[in-house]
Amino acid sequence: MNISKTMQDAIGEQVKHEFYSAYLYLSMAIQCEANTLPGCANWMRLQWQEEIAHATRLMDYVARRGGRITLEAVDKPPSAFGTPLKMFEQVLEHEQSVTAKIHELYDMATSEKDHATTAELQWFVTEQVEEEEQATQIIDTLKQIGDHGPELLVLDRQLGARQAPAAA
Ligand code: FEO
Repeated sequence: MNISKTMQDAIGEQVKHEFYSAYLYLSMAIQCEANTLPGCANWMRLQWQEEIAHATRLMDYVARRGGRITLEAVDKPPSAFGTPLKMFEQVLEHEQSVTAKIHELYDMATSEKDHATTAELQWFVTEQVEEEEQATQIIDTLKQIGDHGPELLVLDRQLGARQAPAAA
């Protein structure tokens, strides 16, 4: 059964949000690099790649269900984010807003009785738990160690150790 136009267009909106997320994290990576925090930059670049993978996964899903996404303009992200703590607080806030959008889509799929889309979105519901958890852990660490000094460099090294997940 083909995907409904309403569901297709709503997922198309989400594709735009995922590309915006990618752009936002790339902008954060640029600030990390400018502030000589290469580990933070690595973390943000991996996040950028993950967001592109999210957008692509949704696009491909719609195509497999006989639909077609129309790409829309992506907003310009901010270019300054303040201290590392403030930056990661913005990451968490952003992910919380994405979670809310995913839940709206999930509710829409449920009310349409579109079980295939509900199943597909379940992956995103779980992914959002991980996204929020990661940002929260980094915020908690930054609150403990402060925004500068040698301990920040230790955290930066840890963020630099993040690797891209193995291809599914
Ligand atoms: Fe695609 Fe970070 O949510």
